[in-house]
Amino acid sequence: MKLRKILLAAVVLTALLLAAGCGKKAEQPPVAQPITAPVTNPSINIEPLIAEWLASDHSNIQLYPAGRDTCVTCHDGGAFAGKLTQQDQLHREFNVALDCRACHSGYGLEIQKSGVVNLPNQQNFKAGKGALCLSCHNERGVPNINDARRASPHGGSQGGIFSGSGGIRTDGFSYISSPHTGIGDTCIACHMTKTPEGLPSHTFRVDSAEDSCSKCHSGLTDVNRKALGDYDGDGTAKGFQDEVKGLLKILEAAIVEALEGGSFATGGGQVQFKDAKGELIAPADISNEIYQAGYNHVLVKYDGSYGIHNPHYVVQLLQQSYKALTGKDVPGATLK
Ligand code: HEC
Ligand code: HEC
Ligand code: HEC
Ligand code: HEC
Ligand code: HEC
Repeated sequence: MKLRKILLAAVVLTALLLAAGCGKKAEQPPVAQPITAPVTNPSINIEPLIAEWLASDHSNIQLYPAGRDTCVTCHDGGAFAGKLTQQDQLHREFNVALDCRACHSGYGLEIQKSGVVNLPNQQNFKAGKGALCLSCHNERGVPNINDARRASPHGGSQGGIFSGSGGIRTDGFSYISSPHTGIGDTCIACHMTKTPEGLPSHTFRVDSAEDSCSKCHSGLTDVNRKALGDYDGDGTAKGFQDEVKGLLKILEAAIVEALEGGSFATGGGQVQFKDAKGELIAPADISNEIYQAGYNHVLVKYDGSYGIHNPHYVVQLLQQSYKALTGKDVPGATLK
């Protein structure tokens, strides 16, 4: 997979340099797929952006999902741009990374401009240019506490967390999203801040807290902003991400206790629960409260921001899961 990544990256790089009219003319390797180079402005030096993209996970190909029908649409850049869902629609024998064409042509460009995306749990979510990111980065499924399979959220569950529409909720409790949900252009605002050259960063990571956060949280230099409360009840209000990590630990311990020493993990699209001997427990023998806690634990972990995408909602989701499972509030915690 690593070798394949390097090979394809080199191919893309060559094709791009050719398209940009710089670099030596090289013969395209046999697997080359012409990049319908969407980045057309000749006055922009795109080399720094190419280097950033190469170092990002979007230049990687996960061959297993990229090689399967339905999965291919998010795991192959050309399939995404063409809105294709079947292997035989690709008319090629190989997969391509989430390269420039994925976001700068076809469907990628269309959804970026439309600013509206359908999420599994919320239709017509207004996300500005971030609608592009959310069309792939979501949990891919509507959870149901009675689900017989005990299905798991998909990796990259930012859609459900950011919009506050994901997760298994406790009936009768009022969940609230944080003001972050309303940030213009959503994902792009924090994950594509300006490079020193004044172009949108293509690392796709949060390069600096100052650039992403300080227009609202003046002087913030660390994304792990000090929390306004002690959400995990350990006696101190730490960094917000640390509070969420603390809550995840407390919830995991409660699940392990409910399983009498067992464990849980994801596999085969399910949240799989095991007993103390390591034997898989049949989904039908898992209570709804254990499933709710396990599903929400995975959802928050797969989101990867440890609460920053929707601070209020994430604390509520974890604290309520704990309460549903144990019958009591997280001891000593500031409750949201
Ligand atoms: C709606 C878009 C979308 C579809 C469709 C999709 N995926 Fe993914 N998948 C993603 C995203 C986004 C990530 C990246 C998560 C991250 O690293 O933050 C991902 C990550 C993964 C991973 C690695 C992370 C993990 O969950 O362990 C695997 C394996 C995977 N997908 C398999 C599949 C399979 C198999 C299918 C088809 C049944 C599929 N995907 C369909 C968007 C999608
Ligand atoms: C995952 C999606 C994604 C990928 C992949 C991607 N870009 Fe972009 N790119 C964007 C978005 C979104 C913007 C607009 C950001 C903004 O308006 O702040 C952008 C903006 C740009 C710009 C600024 C000028 C313009 O055309 O809007 C350039 C240049 C650019 N990208 C080049 C590239 C190159 C070269 C590649 C391939 C190496 C690439 N991009 C891959 C999402 C992507
Ligand atoms: C075509 C689908 C698609 C689009 C569009 C897309 N991504 Fe991704 N993204 C993925 C997949 C798949 C992965 C995982 C790749 C891998 O690990 O092989 C990923 C990985 C990432 C990662 C690294 C995840 C980690 O856990 O380290 C970040 C950050 C990210 N994407 C942000 C964004 C942002 C921001 C946008 C919008 C500008 C965006 N993505 C648009 C599919 C997409
Ligand atoms: C308020 C700023 C902000 C917005 C808006 C935002 N993110 Fe994030 N995101 C973060 C921070 C902060 C992290 C944690 C990074 C860290 O701990 O280093 C993160 C983490 C992630 C990760 C995990 C990978 C990593 O870099 O560790 C992915 C993937 C991601 N965000 C995608 C998205 C998507 C998709 C959207 C659009 C719904 C989005 N983000 C909106 C700030 C933001
Ligand atoms: C558009 C303005 C805006 C941006 C940009 C923004 N925030 Fe916020 N954030 C808010 C508001 C408003 C609140 C709610 C009031 C408060 O907590 O001060 C909030 C709440 C929070 C909270 C919850 C604190 C708690 O204990 O309840 C955290 C943590 C946080 N933001 C971190 C960040 C980080 C990290 C970034 C950058 C990656 C960021 N914010 C970017 C406006 C913003």
